[in-house]
Amino acid sequence: MSEDNGSAPRRYIDDYSNKLILAPMVRANHLGFRLTCRDYGADIVYSEELIAQKLKDTKRVVNEEAGTVDFMYKNGYAVYRTCERDHPNVLQMGASNAVVALQAAQVVCGDVDGIDLNMGCPKHFSVHAGMGAALLQKPETVHDILTTLKRNTTNSITCKIRLLDTVSSTLDLMKMIESTGVSAIAVHARHVVDRPRDRANWEKLSEVVKSYFGVPLIVNGDVFVHEDIAKVREATNVSSVMIARGALYNASIFQPHMESVDDVIKRYLRNSMDIDQHPSTTKWNIMQMMQEMKKRNPNEQLISQSKTMKDLSRWFDLEDYYEQSTSAKLEKTTQAPPKKQK
Ligand code: FNR
Repeated sequence: MSEDNGSAPRRYIDDYSNKLILAPMVRANHLGFRLTCRDYGADIVYSEELIAQKLKDTKRVVNEEAGTVDFMYKNGYAVYRTCERDHPNVLQMGASNAVVALQAAQVVCGDVDGIDLNMGCPKHFSVHAGMGAALLQKPETVHDILTTLKRNTTNSITCKIRLLDTVSSTLDLMKMIESTGVSAIAVHARHVVDRPRDRANWEKLSEVVKSYFGVPLIVNGDVFVHEDIAKVREATNVSSVMIARGALYNASIFQPHMESVDDVIKRYLRNSMDIDQHPSTTKWNIMQMMQEMKKRNPNEQLISQSKTMKDLSRWFDLEDYYEQSTSAKLEKTTQAPPKKQK
């Protein structure tokens, strides 16, 4: 690995309309999973929410063996990883003030195409710290963060909100957000008090859309199979669709003919091995995907006890791939040109 603060090319997303998008998901949306969703046709992939306060203190490291760029925190763990195949990508940020948001954005701006502000997370840790859904009640802070990011970075800037109590208050919020120069607004079609099991309110969102003529919108909520994409587009008149749980359970939801979960897991494992992803990170997603297959997979208990990528590869008949990818990396490392002596 080598540290690198070098200049990177300008990255930007020109057009957010008519796109299929992987929604931000804490724990789930690491690089191996984003690559898998991209393989199945996701046009844009979001990271999990990364807290700006932590992200700003990471170091950009080029990981030659894995072919990735890793943003390392002082505890030795990568907070965020990306690679060439990961674009166009959006990094979602949790922030409560503009200075810290900008400091974090400046660390990653050469390696991401878009930066998104999380304005929808209802969890205590987020709201308590003035982030996520707390921002829905703080238009001045939102204005400050978004204009600061827009003026001082070259990435496209977006945010992800929820529906407010009334159509008109939602519209007011969206118009204020639009005035900051954002490229798009993602709307999770639920209210802050709604739970994930409550039905997404596509009807209310369609009411909002009828009176909104601004930047492209992205609809999010309750797309669980590929056919739901056309349904939500028709119901809301929004062309871009963002998918969370539907992709977590079966990442091939982005393509017209969905694959079996077993095949999706295999693809995900291969992607994860290619980039040296941590086994416990990898296993968590596999366990989510297996929700559907639980009754059919007698090895579930053993898979959940796997501690290494080699163990995981065994349960999915990928031992050969594991051996090849490990030896290919060894070869790459030993053949890497010697570093210039200073
Ligand atoms: C989420 N969601 C979420 N939202 C967000 O803005 N930032 C985040 O980091 C997360 N993390 C997260 C983790 C997990 C495991 C889930 C299931 C969800 C919310 C998510 O992006 C989305 O708005 C909702 O799940 C609704 O979309 P679906 O699941 O109905 O497609």
